[in-house]
Amino acid sequence: MLRVEDIHTNYGMSQVLQGLSLEVRPGEIVGVMGRNGVGKSTLMRSIMGLTPAKSGRILFDGNDISGMATHAIARLGIGYVPQGRRVFPSLSVREHLQVTARRGAGGAWTFEKMLQMFPNLAERLDQSGAKLSGGEQEMLATGRALVGNPRLMLMDEPTEGLAPLMVRELGRIVGALKQEGTSVLLVEQQLAFVLKYADRVYIVAKGRVVHQCLPAELAADAETKAQYLGV
Ligand SMILES: Nc1ncnc2c1ncn2[C@@H]1O[C@H](COP(=O)(O)OP(=O)(O)OP(=O)(O)O)[C@@H](O)[C@H]1O
Ligand SMILES: [Mg+2]
Repeated sequence: MLRVEDIHTNYGMSQVLQGLSLEVRPGEIVGVMGRNGVGKSTLMRSIMGLTPAKSGRILFDGNDISGMATHAIARLGIGYVPQGRRVFPSLSVREHLQVTARRGAGGAWTFEKMLQMFPNLAERLDQSGAKLSGGEQEMLATGRALVGNPRLMLMDEPTEGLAPLMVRELGRIVGALKQEGTSVLLVEQQLAFVLKYADRVYIVAKGRVVHQCLPAELAADAETKAQYLGV
Protein backbone atom coordinates (compact mmCIF):
# COMPACT_ATOMS: atom_id res chain seq x y z
CA MET A 1 0.00 0.00 0.00
CA LEU A 2 2.81 2.39 0.95
CA ARG A 3 6.31 1.91 -0.33
CA VAL A 4 9.08 4.31 0.67
CA GLU A 5 12.09 3.71 -1.57
CA ASP A 6 15.53 4.97 -0.70
CA ILE A 7 14.52 8.50 0.26
CA HIS A 8 16.95 11.26 1.17
CA THR A 9 15.57 14.31 2.97
CA ASN A 10 17.43 17.31 4.34
CA TYR A 11 16.78 20.58 6.12
CA GLY A 12 19.15 22.96 4.34
CA MET A 13 22.66 21.57 4.80
CA SER A 14 21.53 19.03 7.37
CA GLN A 15 21.04 15.56 5.84
CA VAL A 16 18.42 13.74 7.92
CA LEU A 17 17.06 10.79 5.92
CA GLN A 18 19.83 8.96 4.12
CA GLY A 19 18.41 6.18 2.02
CA LEU A 20 15.38 5.17 4.08
CA SER A 21 13.13 2.42 2.71
CA LEU A 22 10.11 0.67 4.21
CA GLU A 23 6.65 -0.55 3.30
CA VAL A 24 3.17 -0.90 4.75
CA ARG A 25 0.85 -3.59 3.42
CA PRO A 26 -2.95 -3.28 3.44
CA GLY A 27 -4.40 -3.63 6.93
CA GLU A 28 -1.02 -3.68 8.64
CA ILE A 29 0.06 -1.80 11.74
CA VAL A 30 3.74 -1.04 11.22
CA GLY A 31 5.84 0.31 14.07
CA VAL A 32 8.80 2.65 13.53
CA MET A 33 11.16 3.02 16.46
CA GLY A 34 14.47 4.73 17.10
CA ARG A 35 16.17 7.20 19.38
CA ASN A 36 15.47 10.93 19.46
CA GLY A 37 16.53 12.82 16.36
CA VAL A 38 17.06 9.84 14.02
CA GLY A 39 14.50 11.18 11.53
CA LYS A 40 11.18 9.49 12.43
CA SER A 41 9.12 12.68 12.20
CA THR A 42 11.01 13.72 9.09
CA LEU A 43 9.93 10.42 7.51
CA MET A 44 6.28 11.28 8.27
CA ARG A 45 6.79 14.82 6.93
CA SER A 46 8.35 13.46 3.75
CA ILE A 47 5.46 11.04 3.15
CA MET A 48 2.98 13.92 3.59
CA GLY A 49 4.99 16.22 1.32
CA LEU A 50 5.59 18.74 4.13
CA THR A 51 9.36 18.31 3.87
CA PRO A 52 9.64 16.62 0.49
CA ALA A 53 12.37 14.06 -0.11
CA LYS A 54 15.20 15.25 -2.37
CA SER A 55 15.60 11.82 -3.97
CA GLY A 56 14.03 8.39 -3.88
CA ARG A 57 10.35 7.55 -4.39
CA ILE A 58 7.23 7.23 -2.26
CA LEU A 59 4.48 5.08 -3.75
CA PHE A 60 0.91 4.90 -2.44
CA ASP A 61 -1.19 2.25 -4.16
CA GLY A 62 1.54 2.12 -6.76
CA ASN A 63 1.29 5.84 -7.59
CA ASP A 64 4.33 8.04 -7.04
CA ILE A 65 3.29 10.70 -4.52
CA SER A 66 6.74 12.22 -4.00
CA GLY A 67 6.53 15.78 -5.23
CA MET A 68 2.75 16.01 -4.75
CA ALA A 69 1.23 18.75 -2.59
CA THR A 70 0.26 17.81 0.96
CA HIS A 71 -3.47 18.38 0.45
CA ALA A 72 -3.44 16.16 -2.64
CA ILE A 73 -1.64 13.40 -0.71
CA ALA A 74 -4.22 13.65 2.09
CA ARG A 75 -7.02 13.39 -0.47
CA LEU A 76 -5.64 10.13 -1.81
CA GLY A 77 -6.42 8.62 1.60
CA ILE A 78 -3.53 9.28 3.99
CA GLY A 79 -4.35 10.73 7.42
CA TYR A 80 -1.66 12.41 9.50
CA VAL A 81 -1.55 12.78 13.28
CA PRO A 82 1.51 14.96 13.88
CA GLN A 83 3.81 14.71 16.87
CA GLY A 84 2.63 17.16 19.53
CA ARG A 85 -0.96 17.06 18.13
CA ARG A 86 -0.96 20.53 16.54
CA VAL A 87 -4.41 21.40 17.85
CA PHE A 88 -5.52 24.95 17.01
CA PRO A 89 -6.30 26.91 20.22
CA SER A 90 -8.66 29.23 18.34
CA LEU A 91 -10.85 26.48 16.85
CA SER A 92 -13.55 24.46 18.61
CA VAL A 93 -13.56 20.68 18.48
CA ARG A 94 -16.35 20.83 15.90
CA GLU A 95 -14.41 23.27 13.72
CA HIS A 96 -11.32 21.05 13.76
CA LEU A 97 -13.43 18.19 12.48
CA GLN A 98 -15.32 20.26 9.89
CA VAL A 99 -12.09 21.50 8.32
CA THR A 100 -10.88 18.02 7.42
CA ALA A 101 -14.13 16.05 7.00
CA ARG A 102 -14.61 14.57 3.56
CA ARG A 103 -16.00 11.49 1.91
CA GLY A 104 -14.55 9.48 -0.88
CA ALA A 105 -10.95 8.71 0.06
CA GLY A 106 -12.08 5.10 0.24
CA GLY A 107 -11.69 4.43 3.95
CA ALA A 108 -14.26 3.01 6.36
CA TRP A 109 -14.71 6.21 8.36
CA THR A 110 -17.60 8.61 8.64
CA PHE A 111 -18.07 11.54 11.00
CA GLU A 112 -20.66 9.59 13.03
CA LYS A 113 -18.52 6.49 13.29
CA MET A 114 -15.54 8.54 14.41
CA LEU A 115 -17.61 10.23 17.15
CA GLN A 116 -18.82 6.85 18.39
CA MET A 117 -15.21 5.90 18.91
CA PHE A 118 -14.46 9.17 20.75
CA PRO A 119 -17.37 9.83 23.13
CA ASN A 120 -15.25 12.48 24.90
CA LEU A 121 -15.07 14.51 21.69
CA ALA A 122 -18.78 14.10 21.05
CA GLU A 123 -19.45 15.70 24.45
CA ARG A 124 -17.08 18.59 23.81
CA LEU A 125 -17.88 19.63 20.23
CA ASP A 126 -18.28 23.30 21.14
CA GLN A 127 -15.28 23.51 23.44
CA SER A 128 -12.10 25.22 22.31
CA GLY A 129 -9.16 23.01 21.37
CA ALA A 130 -7.04 24.82 23.95
CA LYS A 131 -9.26 23.65 26.81
CA LEU A 132 -8.72 19.95 26.14
CA SER A 133 -6.35 17.76 28.17
CA GLY A 134 -3.31 16.23 26.43
CA GLY A 135 -5.16 12.95 26.00
CA GLU A 136 -8.23 14.66 24.58
CA GLN A 137 -6.03 16.65 22.19
CA GLU A 138 -4.49 13.40 20.94
CA MET A 139 -8.00 12.03 20.41
CA LEU A 140 -8.95 15.20 18.55
CA ALA A 141 -5.85 15.02 16.34
CA THR A 142 -6.69 11.38 15.60
CA GLY A 143 -10.37 12.13 14.96
CA ARG A 144 -9.39 15.05 12.72
CA ALA A 145 -7.33 12.68 10.57
CA LEU A 146 -10.05 9.99 10.57
CA VAL A 147 -12.85 12.23 9.28
CA GLY A 148 -10.75 12.61 6.13
CA ASN A 149 -11.65 8.93 5.72
CA PRO A 150 -8.11 7.62 5.16
CA ARG A 151 -7.01 4.11 4.32
CA LEU A 152 -3.60 4.75 5.87
CA MET A 153 -2.96 6.64 9.10
CA LEU A 154 0.42 8.11 9.99
CA MET A 155 0.63 8.49 13.77
CA ASP A 156 3.71 10.21 15.20
CA GLU A 157 4.31 9.35 18.87
CA PRO A 158 0.64 9.34 19.87
CA THR A 159 1.32 8.19 23.45
CA GLU A 160 3.90 10.93 24.15
CA GLY A 161 3.13 12.61 27.46
CA LEU A 162 -0.07 10.65 28.10
CA ALA A 163 -1.09 9.09 31.43
CA PRO A 164 -1.35 5.27 31.47
CA LEU A 165 -5.13 5.37 31.30
CA MET A 166 -5.04 7.47 28.10
CA VAL A 167 -2.35 5.21 26.64
CA ARG A 168 -4.74 2.28 27.09
CA GLU A 169 -7.51 4.31 25.48
CA LEU A 170 -5.26 5.03 22.54
CA GLY A 171 -4.48 1.33 22.29
CA ARG A 172 -8.20 0.69 21.99
CA ILE A 173 -8.31 3.13 19.09
CA VAL A 174 -5.37 1.59 17.26
CA GLY A 175 -7.11 -1.78 17.72
CA ALA A 176 -10.31 -0.34 16.22
CA LEU A 177 -8.39 1.00 13.21
CA LYS A 178 -6.96 -2.42 12.60
CA GLN A 179 -10.39 -4.01 12.88
CA GLU A 180 -11.70 -1.65 10.18
CA GLY A 181 -8.79 -2.57 7.93
CA THR A 182 -7.20 0.88 8.17
CA SER A 183 -3.41 0.60 7.89
CA VAL A 184 -1.24 2.46 10.39
CA LEU A 185 2.35 3.64 10.25
CA LEU A 186 3.05 4.14 13.94
CA VAL A 187 6.09 6.06 15.15
CA GLU A 188 6.39 5.28 18.82
CA GLN A 189 8.93 5.41 21.64
CA GLN A 190 6.98 3.19 24.05
CA LEU A 191 8.25 -0.29 23.32
CA ALA A 192 5.38 -2.00 25.15
CA PHE A 193 2.82 -0.18 23.00
CA VAL A 194 4.54 -1.22 19.77
CA LEU A 195 4.97 -4.81 20.94
CA LYS A 196 1.28 -4.99 21.73
CA TYR A 197 -0.20 -3.45 18.57
CA ALA A 198 2.29 -3.65 15.68
CA ASP A 199 2.37 -6.44 13.11
CA ARG A 200 5.96 -5.59 12.13
CA VAL A 201 8.62 -3.19 13.38
CA TYR A 202 11.32 -1.12 11.69
CA ILE A 203 14.16 0.42 13.65
CA VAL A 204 15.69 3.63 12.33
CA ALA A 205 19.14 5.00 13.11
CA LYS A 206 21.01 7.83 11.36
CA GLY A 207 18.28 8.36 8.82
CA ARG A 208 17.85 4.82 7.55
CA VAL A 209 16.29 1.51 8.53
CA VAL A 210 18.88 -0.60 10.36
CA HIS A 211 16.68 -3.48 11.48
CA GLN A 212 13.26 -4.97 10.78
CA CYS A 213 11.54 -7.75 12.64
CA LEU A 214 8.37 -9.07 14.23
CA PRO A 215 7.39 -7.64 17.63
CA ALA A 216 8.05 -10.98 19.34
CA GLU A 217 11.56 -11.06 17.86
CA LEU A 218 12.27 -7.56 19.10
CA ALA A 219 10.95 -8.40 22.56
CA ALA A 220 13.48 -11.23 22.79
CA ASP A 221 16.40 -9.31 21.25
CA ALA A 222 18.17 -7.61 24.16
CA GLU A 223 21.11 -6.55 21.99
CA THR A 224 19.03 -4.65 19.40
CA LYS A 225 16.93 -3.02 22.12
CA ALA A 226 20.05 -1.85 23.96
CA GLN A 227 21.87 -0.69 20.83
CA TYR A 228 19.09 1.20 19.06
CA LEU A 229 16.44 1.93 21.65
CA GLY A 230 18.46 2.33 24.83
CA VAL A 231 16.26 -0.07 26.80
N1 LIG B 1 12.67 22.15 10.71
C1 LIG B 1 13.90 21.67 10.93
N2 LIG B 1 14.99 22.37 10.56
C2 LIG B 1 16.24 21.89 10.77
N3 LIG B 1 16.51 20.69 11.36
C3 LIG B 1 15.46 19.96 11.75
C4 LIG B 1 14.11 20.40 11.57
N4 LIG B 1 13.28 19.46 12.07
C5 LIG B 1 14.08 18.48 12.55
N5 LIG B 1 15.39 18.78 12.35
C6 LIG B 1 16.54 17.94 12.71
O1 LIG B 1 16.45 16.74 11.97
C7 LIG B 1 16.85 15.63 12.78
C8 LIG B 1 15.72 14.62 12.78
O2 LIG B 1 14.57 15.18 13.43
P1 LIG B 1 13.20 14.40 13.57
O3 LIG B 1 12.26 15.33 14.22
O4 LIG B 1 12.83 13.79 12.28
O5 LIG B 1 13.64 13.23 14.59
P2 LIG B 1 12.72 12.20 15.40
O6 LIG B 1 13.31 10.85 15.15
O7 LIG B 1 11.30 12.40 15.09
O8 LIG B 1 13.02 12.62 16.92
P3 LIG B 1 12.07 12.56 18.22
O9 LIG B 1 12.09 11.14 18.69
O10 LIG B 1 12.74 13.48 19.18
O11 LIG B 1 10.70 13.02 17.83
C9 LIG B 1 17.20 16.18 14.14
O12 LIG B 1 18.59 16.35 14.18
C10 LIG B 1 16.49 17.53 14.17
O13 LIG B 1 17.19 18.43 14.98
MG1 LIG C 1 9.72 12.97 16.15
